[in-house]
Amino acid sequence: MAGAIKDNSETRARRLRKSPLIRNLAAETRLDTSRMIQPYFVIPGRGKIEKISSMPGIERNSVDTLAKQIEKDMKLGIKNIMLFGLTDQKDARASMSYSARNPVIHAVKKLRREFGDDLMVSVDICLCAYTSHGHCGLIKDKFVDNDSSLKTLAKMAVAHAEAGADILGPSDMMDFRVREIRNALDSNGFTNALIMSYTAKYASAYYGPFREAADSAPSFGDRKTYQMDYRNQREALKELMLDMEEGADIVMVKPALAYLDIIALFRQNCDLPVAAYNVSGEYAQVKLAAKAGLANERDLTIENLTAITRAGAGIILTYHLRDILKKRWLNE
Ligand code: PBG
Ligand code: ZN
Repeated sequence: MAGAIKDNSETRARRLRKSPLIRNLAAETRLDTSRMIQPYFVIPGRGKIEKISSMPGIERNSVDTLAKQIEKDMKLGIKNIMLFGLTDQKDARASMSYSARNPVIHAVKKLRREFGDDLMVSVDICLCAYTSHGHCGLIKDKFVDNDSSLKTLAKMAVAHAEAGADILGPSDMMDFRVREIRNALDSNGFTNALIMSYTAKYASAYYGPFREAADSAPSFGDRKTYQMDYRNQREALKELMLDMEEGADIVMVKPALAYLDIIALFRQNCDLPVAAYNVSGEYAQVKLAAKAGLANERDLTIENLTAITRAGAGIILTYHLRDILKKRWLNE
């Protein structure tokens, strides 16, 4: 028991650090790639693969090249994916978000057909890639309007569930969206579709590279009237209670590394699986530091993901997953 010190020999903490094998036996935290989710960006068209300059190693794919990439990734051991969509047909109502022409809806159908239950498919549910103004909800009197956005989000969720998505991930931060989406899914017969809510999603400077990748930067203002203020911790607990009441199956904290306290708080305050999103800016920082010779990329990545796990996240969304498997970073 901690504090019950009998003699000096029991206080020798270094014994458990003596050798790599002893350290492995004593390790409190272990990374598990089967609980990590690899994100992808889906674009319209055919035969397309586009590099994303701010996120080395991550690409945008049309549905056909996406399926080929995922087939390769599944051979490496990737089992779980998250899809984000792009479109060149944006409008004020985000009508592409639930249209049959939405590239993610196409992708989900194809992946389901080709890989069945060997692949877990989750999709981001948000309007920002589909609205002409780039906000996560619809605009009314120059303000992001909560209640009218809910209907479109629910339609988008149902359309993706219908295509065969396992998990819907609302990332918009509108109030009551989890309840609205749960009700819409249930009344359309998708009672088994899960909701992984971006429960505590903070307005963050770490999303920069993603907004380039997803072409989803707001054309005016910022996201601070709906995403959380990073000065707040108790407010995250409020969001957690609301999402639990509204029927979330998995609760997420985003970003991850500057928010380890929030991840720990979630782990202590609910019995649901807790996910953390190791976001684009966190990924880009590692890539840049490695390129500049400031740190070893493998060591930095594994330390970061271990910290996120140690804080309490069971599920991690991370752009690093493919590198971890391809370069066998966990076998070292
Ligand atoms: C869209 C969305 C964003 C991310 C996931 N979903 C960007 C944003 O809210 O501006 C960020 C992911 C990342 O940075 O890797 N709502
Ligand atoms: Zn959004």
